[in-house]
Amino acid sequence: MKASPNYRHAVYAGSFDPVTYGHTAIIERAARLYDRVTVAIGVNPAKTSLFTPEERLTMLRDALAGCDNVDVESFSGLLINYCRGLGAGVLVRGLRLLTDFEYEFQLGLANRDLEPDIETVFMFTESEHVYISSSLVKEIAMNGGDYSRYVPPGVLKALRSKYPQP
Ligand code: COA
Repeated sequence: MKASPNYRHAVYAGSFDPVTYGHTAIIERAARLYDRVTVAIGVNPAKTSLFTPEERLTMLRDALAGCDNVDVESFSGLLINYCRGLGAGVLVRGLRLLTDFEYEFQLGLANRDLEPDIETVFMFTESEHVYISSSLVKEIAMNGGDYSRYVPPGVLKALRSKYPQP
């Protein structure tokens, strides 16, 4: 008989290239709801990223050092297979704008079709993080703007070494 997944264990996946305060706020809230939260860095060799998976892992672990029930890992392949392997029963996704909805709806339905026992749970992003994305932060960094309020200190340091300011 198929074992039931653990509905007290949630997975929050993303590219995190790099992690922002928008992500950490969702993770911290999920950590209050679930016994265990696994933050999963999706490694897609076909996608160009600024930071290596190892660098992203280090930045996430550093940013989440105070969250005892949160661990950080990376995965490749289908997210739902990764969740199955962990035995996690919940996929947490953050919703920022209405424009996120269509994509999230499609992804949520596809994942449900692949594995009906794993539930996708959506959390609204805080209003102050609604427009932040990793690409936006990188664009501001690349062009010498101030992005310090969007990212944890370790990310700020890493971005400053990639894009030194005059
Ligand atoms: N705060 C700030 N930014 C946020 C955010 C939040 N709460 N939530 C999402 N974002 C940003 C992300 O940083 C990302 O920005 P970017 O496009 O500038 O990099 C953007 O919104 C999209 O986020 P997300 O939808 O989580 O995409 P992602 O690229 O970060 O991660 C995976 C996507 C890895 C979760 C997804 O591709 C995946 O599951 N891959 C595995 C293959 C698979 O199973 N596919 C599905 C088949 S049904």
